[in-house]
Amino acid sequence: MAEPFYITTPIYYVNARPHLGHAYTTIVADVACRFRSMYGGKTFFLTGTDEHGDKIIRAAKDENMSPRAYVDKISGLFRALWPELNIAYNQFIRTTDPDHIAVVEQVLQKIYDSGDIYFSEYEGLYCFGCERFYLERELVDGKCPDHLTQPEVIKESNYFFRMSRYQDWLVKHIQSNPDFIRPERYKNEVLSFLKEPLEDLCISRPKSRLQWGITLPFDKEYVTYVWFDALLNYVSAIGYPDRETFKTFWPCVQHIVAKDILKPHGIYWPIILKAAGIPVYNHLNVHGYWNVNQSKMSKSLGNAAEPLQLKTVYGLDAFRFFLMREMVFGLDSNFSEDALVQRINSDLANDLGNLFSRVLAMVHKYFKGIVPEIAAEVGRELQFGLKADAEEAVTAFEEAMENFAFHKGLMAIWELVSRMNKYIDVTAPWELAKQKSGSDALKAVIYNLLEGLRIISGMIYPVMPDTALTMQRHLGAEAETAGEFFRMDMLKVWGKIRPGTKLPKSTTLFPRIDVKGKGESADEHSAESAGISDLKPEIDIETFMKTDLRVGRVIHAEPVPRAKKLLKLEVDAGERRTIVAGIAGSYSPEEMIGRQVVIVANLKPVKLMGVLSEGMVIAAVDANGECTVATLDKTVKPGTPLR
Ligand code: MSP
Repeated sequence: MAEPFYITTPIYYVNARPHLGHAYTTIVADVACRFRSMYGGKTFFLTGTDEHGDKIIRAAKDENMSPRAYVDKISGLFRALWPELNIAYNQFIRTTDPDHIAVVEQVLQKIYDSGDIYFSEYEGLYCFGCERFYLERELVDGKCPDHLTQPEVIKESNYFFRMSRYQDWLVKHIQSNPDFIRPERYKNEVLSFLKEPLEDLCISRPKSRLQWGITLPFDKEYVTYVWFDALLNYVSAIGYPDRETFKTFWPCVQHIVAKDILKPHGIYWPIILKAAGIPVYNHLNVHGYWNVNQSKMSKSLGNAAEPLQLKTVYGLDAFRFFLMREMVFGLDSNFSEDALVQRINSDLANDLGNLFSRVLAMVHKYFKGIVPEIAAEVGRELQFGLKADAEEAVTAFEEAMENFAFHKGLMAIWELVSRMNKYIDVTAPWELAKQKSGSDALKAVIYNLLEGLRIISGMIYPVMPDTALTMQRHLGAEAETAGEFFRMDMLKVWGKIRPGTKLPKSTTLFPRIDVKGKGESADEHSAESAGISDLKPEIDIETFMKTDLRVGRVIHAEPVPRAKKLLKLEVDAGERRTIVAGIAGSYSPEEMIGRQVVIVANLKPVKLMGVLSEGMVIAAVDANGECTVATLDKTVKPGTPLR
């Protein structure tokens, strides 16, 4: 049986709503966990929220809420978002949970009793944004490097944790466990920080200044510094010290964080563990930062939440794929809608989607949808190295995924996709189909292609679980055997699809996105003027303002049976609307999906061909009845009004 696996995300502060950055880390954890589950061992995936400290108190005040009501609300938003992103965590911890509080008290007491916590007066420069003291040399032009504000001088008596005592031990530990912090650049960053003498860590806040925290078990006048409290979530959640879950999973823990919180995780955390007599974690995996449209994500720019909405427009699996493929784990990356569309069209619709529908179409065309039987010797001859290519891809995939190099894992899969597309060109099944003697060869080629697809469907599972399932259903996996196709051992053998299985008809895995509709200039040649005859009678502005025009995004489109001109659209216009549009003569359903449109949102609903239409899509209609749907030249949130 494979080893157990325990993966954690940072627990997110509840002073901000979930955004792309949080989603990325949590999807990474989900991908890593699903990948590990392919080996059949036990897995445990922990995420949650960090709810104590000044930051939270200030955010609650800003929203005129009590701290308790406020943390419940924002924590709820995180918890509700993860299933929408198909993130299958095992536990969601909150630092306000009583079990967590009990563990923090217990560990504090233990370290206090062993003499690693002392009381002392301290005067220092304190940044309220970071909730920590800064040394003069850490400031940039006298300001906090993160918040660009001048820290305040604070003098108070506090409890300190003797981190300095463990500095040499930590340096040795990092040096003798080269993968302890990875990728290497972050290990080097921590080591270079440790070249300077380590200051002891102030781990208390007087209650006169802050009450929203865990009271120190040995002094009721103080609460615990939020980082000391938060880091312990990784052990409290799984039942430190005695529960079976802790015993099973702690020895194989892996943390994931972004570079912003390298220091607490790379320095404070191993030292706290050491001082508390808990074995140190195995790996800290550190990733870079997402920027959006080349700028830093920030609440004030309003660009942080928007990317998350694109998952509804372009599909969740495509969104997850983009995040994993685009970011080199460890380095910063840029998010833009254009880059997302580009990847969907090239990697997903063109490469994988086309391969899948080509192969399935051939099974239906040549074998009535039934997996052909293959004569072994013919099969081998006609593999042209395909089986070896698949083996190579699986090995490269495993190695990359194991090392958190997700983009490389996906590249290995796409290398196989490209080999398979070439295999079709080389073997030319359409030619074999013409030759009387080609029937055995044709069977072999098609069977090999189906096997290649099966292996691909297994490898994409961690990143695109829904698409993997769809592919597998089309490759004949019965409901009860579907899970087997995701097992790593099944990806290392050739010939698992049973001949004689009847396969369902092909489906479009990823609809191509029409870039023209995405705000690129559709046609530079301006048409001849259409004139302005038949002008309607003049109206005043009040009359016009009664028309409620809104931005919508087409989520789904399909023909209306027996109505050649009509398309039934599902539109996200701030709320979901069904709209019947007379544009089928000019647009296919696929062309409409993902498009940004303008709708009349307060039109009385009418039934058209039996479908209730709740609005109208605005389009230019020329003298020949050709429609051009109105769009906007930037992406705007669905539901935004036009005036
Ligand atoms: N509460 C602390 C963590 C305590 S863990 C014991 C905290 N919370 S946070 O809400 O600020 O989350 C920081 C984490 O969110 C980052 O480490 C990263 O995982 C994720 N990200 C936030 N912004 C990000 C980007 N712009 N890009 C990538 N990830 C980002 O720090």
